[in-house]
Amino acid sequence: MTTPDRVRWGVLSTARIGRKAVAPAIARSSNGTLLAIASRDAGLAVATAAELGAPRAYGSYDDLLADPDVDAVYVPLPNSQHAAWTIRAAEAGKHVLCEKPLAMSSAECDAMRAAAGAHGVVLMEAFMYRFHPRFEQLLARVQAGELGALRYVQASFSFTVSDPADIRLRRDLGGGSLMDVGCYAVNVARTLMGAEPVEAQALARWTPGGVDEQLAGTLRFDGDRVAQVTGSLAAARSEDVLVVGELGTARLRHAFVPVPGPVGLELHRPPAPPEVIGFEPVDSYQRMVEHVAACVLEGRRPRYDAVEAAANLRTIEALYGSARAGGRVVAVAV
Ligand SMILES: NC(=O)c1ccc[n+]([C@@H]2O[C@H](COP(=O)([O-])OP(=O)(O)OC[C@H]3O[C@@H](n4cnc5c(N)ncnc54)[C@H](OP(=O)(O)O)[C@@H]3O)[C@@H](O)[C@H]2O)c1
Repeated sequence: MTTPDRVRWGVLSTARIGRKAVAPAIARSSNGTLLAIASRDAGLAVATAAELGAPRAYGSYDDLLADPDVDAVYVPLPNSQHAAWTIRAAEAGKHVLCEKPLAMSSAECDAMRAAAGAHGVVLMEAFMYRFHPRFEQLLARVQAGELGALRYVQASFSFTVSDPADIRLRRDLGGGSLMDVGCYAVNVARTLMGAEPVEAQALARWTPGGVDEQLAGTLRFDGDRVAQVTGSLAAARSEDVLVVGELGTARLRHAFVPVPGPVGLELHRPPAPPEVIGFEPVDSYQRMVEHVAACVLEGRRPRYDAVEAAANLRTIEALYGSARAGGRVVAVAV
């Protein structure tokens, strides 16, 4: 099904994130080709394909899935449509890189994993920050015990969305601060802790339409380790991760979305003086799509699979359960 050394990608929709970041990353990737763009609007598909240098354009997502030359699809649809289109893509034999959060619920996520498994395709959630060498190095150092046993993690992601029509503020499309940005904080906390939380507690500020425009939560892990996770669509831009262990601390500023300039991994292990390890700018979107393509070409499992994505969603479900109950402590389902 695949060409020997390159994966041929199709993109389902003309979403901003696809146009601005992921489709250009696919086009630049060492092991992939941007073959096709689909949109509900055929004219928009043609214009976007021309803008991105994709040779094929389709006026429906189904038409793209019917193209036998497409090996893999990138799915940057509204959150409420991730599961349905990922399952259709898997049924059409396409490998899938789907945007975060992978689904609306852990149950949807399980159905997506089952479809990918039944049709023998790769499925991965597009949390690109995990493919930045700075995060890879932080995780390796934490896993090697350089900070000692972790005691707490604080992670936050915010910016302002002022257009009420934006999909991030649409309840029917799976909007909300936890779904859009808080999910990163949850993901980084679970990944660094190397465990799943057992309890969650959260407070939210809701829009009149019933969408959380801000949600701040606490996750309790075994051993009374905690993570504080905050997402907001009504605050100044901030992306920050602080990791505190018994022996030292680490901090990532500009933690999630790649920035044009160099970034640092701030480490402090007293009594040694604080140090900052520098990293040149890297396109973590490109590293992510190259990882998925390598998994397709080499027949291996992705570094982060849909089981991991379902666990992230179980934590998100518990945080929402708590926020809707006014901050009651809620068990995270296993
Ligand atoms: N990883 C990241 O850095 C990152 C950043 C931003 C967003 N995201 C994720 O990417 C996904 C898309 O976000 P975005 O901000 O790029 O979205 P967006 O610009 O609003 O685009 C969503 C696209 O979905 C298609 N669509 C199908 N049904 C729709 C409907 N009922 N309403 C609106 N659009 C519909 C549209 O494409 P057509 O009209 O062409 O069919 C639209 O362009 C979300 O899951 C989000 O969480 C990830």
